[in-house]
Amino acid sequence: MDRKDFLQLFVLGTAAAATGCLGGCSSESKANDPTPPATGVDFTLDLTAPANAQLAAGTGFVYGASNRVLVAKTNGTYVALQASCTHEGVTLSFDSATSRVVCPRHGGTYSSTGAVLAGPPPAALKQYTVVQTGNLLRITG
Ligand code: FES
Repeated sequence: MDRKDFLQLFVLGTAAAATGCLGGCSSESKANDPTPPATGVDFTLDLTAPANAQLAAGTGFVYGASNRVLVAKTNGTYVALQASCTHEGVTLSFDSATSRVVCPRHGGTYSSTGAVLAGPPPAALKQYTVVQTGNLLRITG
């Protein structure tokens, strides 16, 4: 290998490292390619069930519709939102202390109505209808 070949390899390697593409750039193609929100949702939660105790107390949340909907309680009201981040489709969680929906990947933050508050998410979360009848919550949308 002569000096010219070495320099060409060095420059190409440096460019690849700078762009983070040494192992391929397939992860970049997932950016802004979120999981679409669930449609045709219709499920019921029993607030007296042990699995929903933290939801009923307002200290936790649950997933429904095969983990595609997040149900939480904030200020005494139940809300149901798309459970996947609109940035890259990562599963979201609900912080009961702040009443915010948070994304663990890039720190995207949503309000309890699904509006984007911070971070890279390009769109709000889909909100589902919640109707409470006694100890039952029906989530549709
Ligand atoms: S995946 Fe990037 S903020 Fe959620």
